[in-house]
Amino acid sequence: MTAAMVECVDLIKIHKQGSLEVVALHGLNFSMEEGEFVSVVGASGAGKSTLLRVLAGLEQPSAGSVTVDGVDLSGIDRRDLTNYYRRNVGFLWQDFHRNLLPYLKVRANVELPMLLAGVGARRRKARALALLEAVGLRNLAFAKVGTMSGGEQQRLAMCVALAMQPKLLLADEPTGELDTHTSIGIYTLLRGMCDREGLTVLVVTHDVALATRTDRVVRLADGRLITTEGGANEAVVQVSPDGTVQLPREMLRAAGIGTTTRARRTDDGILIRPMDSYDA
Ligand SMILES: Nc1ncnc2c1ncn2[C@@H]1O[C@H](COP(=O)(O)OP(=O)(O)O)[C@@H](O)[C@H]1O
Ligand SMILES: [Mg+2]
Repeated sequence: MTAAMVECVDLIKIHKQGSLEVVALHGLNFSMEEGEFVSVVGASGAGKSTLLRVLAGLEQPSAGSVTVDGVDLSGIDRRDLTNYYRRNVGFLWQDFHRNLLPYLKVRANVELPMLLAGVGARRRKARALALLEAVGLRNLAFAKVGTMSGGEQQRLAMCVALAMQPKLLLADEPTGELDTHTSIGIYTLLRGMCDREGLTVLVVTHDVALATRTDRVVRLADGRLITTEGGANEAVVQVSPDGTVQLPREMLRAAGIGTTTRARRTDDGILIRPMDSYDA
């Protein structure tokens, strides 16, 4: 059994705005295993960003407990929380410019968090080049950020977020400003980092089709978790106007369905089975 990377128990977060109190997280119970790739969906105002910000150490929980990689975030003071944010987690914003400094070259952007943390020049360079290689940007190491496309900039932002080798990457609608093809590329890279490097990724998305590319989808409503949809057994699936239905790869693999399948209307709905089971 792998250890839990994230563990929230009865997590409550109340935002205070003057005399107004908004309960953004309403006693949330949620956990993630190391190496899991999980997406969070839910309506605007459901508490998705608040959850990510609490897990990132950007906001203190109001009550309940939050543990990330063995660090208890409910008890620690603000300064330790800031250190935790700088060293233990990576954060990817929808507005990737928040991860980037436009007047620095590409490699210098990736090296910056390490420079600030006192990592030596050789290690900074090696780590930066390895990350740029992993996302296909190595040949742009000396390019100017402003000359790159949105997708390239988000991939660079990924390198910056991962520079300090965090075990947990939190991404708040990272592909919200990107087209579908580019977005799928980002998810494929994230998936690769989970599979190869054991990175744990929690990503907020509005896009149900993108969510099905992760191991598990959790749905928030009014600061509570309403469903946990296992990628292999149950999924929320988008149906395009042309009739295209995209099922999670994991679910297809688990069901033994390859490139062709046959669908049959039943009293309950539509049954999709591997070809062989119909031939029998
Ligand atoms: N800094 C804040 N001050 C006051 N209320 C906030 C603050 N941040 C979020 N909220 C409120 O908390 C609730 C959850 O917000 P948020 O986590 O941003 O939701 P989501 O990301 O799912 O859209 C909303 O009602 C929102 O208005
Ligand atoms: Mg949000």
